Amino acid sequence: MSEKTVVLTDAASNRSTALPVVTGTLGDPAFDIGKLNKDTGYFTYDPGFMSTAATKSAVTFIDGDQGILLYRGYPIEQLAKHSNFLEVAYLLINGELPKADEFAKFDHEVTHHTMMRESLKNFFQGFHYDAHPMAMCMAAVGSLAAFYHDSLDINDPAQRKLAAIRLIAKMPTIAAAAYRYSIGWPIRYPRNNLEYCSRFLHMMFEVPSEPLQISPVAAKALDLLFILHADHEQNASTSTVRLVGSTGANPYACVAAGIAALWGPAHGGANEAVLKMLAEIGDAKNVSKAVERAKDKNSGFRLMGFGHRVYKNFDPRATIIREMCHKVLGELGVNDPLLDVAMELEQAALKDSYFVERKLYPNVDFYSGIIYKALGIPTEMFTVMFAIARTAGWVAHWLEQHETLDAKIGRPRQIYIGAPNRDYVDPAKR
Ligand code: SDX
Repeated sequence: MSEKTVVLTDAASNRSTALPVVTGTLGDPAFDIGKLNKDTGYFTYDPGFMSTAATKSAVTFIDGDQGILLYRGYPIEQLAKHSNFLEVAYLLINGELPKADEFAKFDHEVTHHTMMRESLKNFFQGFHYDAHPMAMCMAAVGSLAAFYHDSLDINDPAQRKLAAIRLIAKMPTIAAAAYRYSIGWPIRYPRNNLEYCSRFLHMMFEVPSEPLQISPVAAKALDLLFILHADHEQNASTSTVRLVGSTGANPYACVAAGIAALWGPAHGGANEAVLKMLAEIGDAKNVSKAVERAKDKNSGFRLMGFGHRVYKNFDPRATIIREMCHKVLGELGVNDPLLDVAMELEQAALKDSYFVERKLYPNVDFYSGIIYKALGIPTEMFTVMFAIARTAGWVAHWLEQHETLDAKIGRPRQIYIGAPNRDYVDPAKR
């Protein structure tokens, strides 16, 4: 056995198996258990994938103990300081930072795929005006498959890349359309003379009766939030995109499934839940009561925006966003009392042994909503913002899995705890 292996022996049956050890560039090694059941008759059991790697990937790396986040090896702090969202999207998809001409081409391609088909605009008319924008986005993105399914050969790398560009380009258009429909305003076309974030803000807030001056502070703040939310290894929504992608489903269906997974309050829906929680707490003087409630298992209440499956230290994104809060609100002249509540809540929790022992720190969702609110984004749109940014990561992982030659369909096993084999009972004898 040339490579490093670990031999696992079942004492009762004396059956052994040699588990090859898989080691990556960074991070903990893993046992390759692909042959375990065949060799020993055992499965492994790990609901929630606490200790299970579902794939190899070169896109993003997180060190939860050190609070490190790398996109294609570049630290998130450096990308946040020097890059922009569209350049980060290129990096995630292609694996390298673009040269000037490569970025110009990518920007041109994205800019010229921002419009959605007119019949898709009519799609929104089918929703009640107060439909949640995540429901509208999930449906609209899934329906893109109706436009491209027959013209999409996912075995053609060029067509896969085009689908990725279409998704990155159209998410802001669809997101803004969902918002505009929900407030009864006309859906706006994307303006190609604007950069990615300004173009989105224009589609969100421009009214037909007067020109809209986009705040460069707002556009820059949004761009930074999009960089910080772009990717995060095999989180629940990215794993969903990969699982759906492993069946050969088209990328629009995969990303629609990712949006569905992101919506949950334990995942991307947390940013909306944080703002509702802060509003419910209302004032710094109520913080200690909220902390006590979060510690009470019977309360069913958790501090939204706190804790993380991987980070057992500060989420580096939360640190950057916390610093951004003061700067952006100051530059926009916004004074939001919820920021004081959030700061007080963070301090109270980080002094409390319940949170310290469980290594529960603020995550990316704890402060982001305060900035979105300052930009005029309504609370119901917060997770949609997360989805716009995460589309870059979702398509990067979808492309990666289709470039992986030995990719198999994802099909977990189970521990069966149901009824043993039994015979049918005639209704008269039940
Ligand atoms: C995102 O995976 C990713 O990378 C996700 C993400 C990304 O970029 O894709 O980073 C984005 O989803 C961030 C997380 C947003 N969610 C929230 O903020 C919701 C609140 N947090 C949690 O529900 C929870 O912390 C999770 C879901 C984030 C993580 O859950 P785990 O890892 O399964 O941990 P757990 O539920 O087993 O909790 C461990 C302990 C438990 O107590 P004990 O049983 O040990 O006594 O910590 C407690 C939990 O009760 N706990 C909390 C808590 N989070 C965990 N108690 C109070 N408040 C909380 N927020």
